[in-house]
Amino acid sequence: MSVLPIVLYDDPVLRRKAAEIKEDSPELQQLIDDMFETMYNGNGVGLAAPQIGESLSLFVIDADPMTEDEPEEEDLGKMVFINPKISFSKDEEKIKMDEGCLSIPGLREPVSRPDKITVEYQDRHLKPHKKEFTGWVSRVIQHEFDHLEGVLFIDYLGSFKKRLLAGKLRQVNDGLIDAGYPVRVPDTAG
Ligand code: NI
Repeated sequence: MSVLPIVLYDDPVLRRKAAEIKEDSPELQQLIDDMFETMYNGNGVGLAAPQIGESLSLFVIDADPMTEDEPEEEDLGKMVFINPKISFSKDEEKIKMDEGCLSIPGLREPVSRPDKITVEYQDRHLKPHKKEFTGWVSRVIQHEFDHLEGVLFIDYLGSFKKRLLAGKLRQVNDGLIDAGYPVRVPDTAG
């Protein structure tokens, strides 16, 4: 397994809609293992394939470090989501919680999201599942799913907040923030 460099927020791959994965392969299994390794190395709880430069509909999570203090939440361990689809009720209450992102090191901001969601997805062997999630795990899944749609958590912030953060985001992009893990600084020529 190897730790892969994580692309930073202005990289165009983070704005692309990720492609559906149609078949299993040794390369796919290797990619999944590398993504877990990369996520743990960055102390992340989730990582989407576009964040390591692969525009594929795939993300991995291990939300358990965040749920140890919440024994009422199910211990799910490592999970792989391939070609996921999320649905939730229009009436579902939205909860505000701080989020961060390995592609935007040093930034944490509150984002409102529905609590209970239903996810249809395939696991690492492309076996289909349909499952309900709530709490912190639901939050992580929604954040990672957004990466597959080309959406970043800062997109949810108001324009005033975005203006306040603009300088910091530029620093992230210029590679001036020490993330503490390998990153790929966007090519400013492209
Ligand atoms: Ni993220």
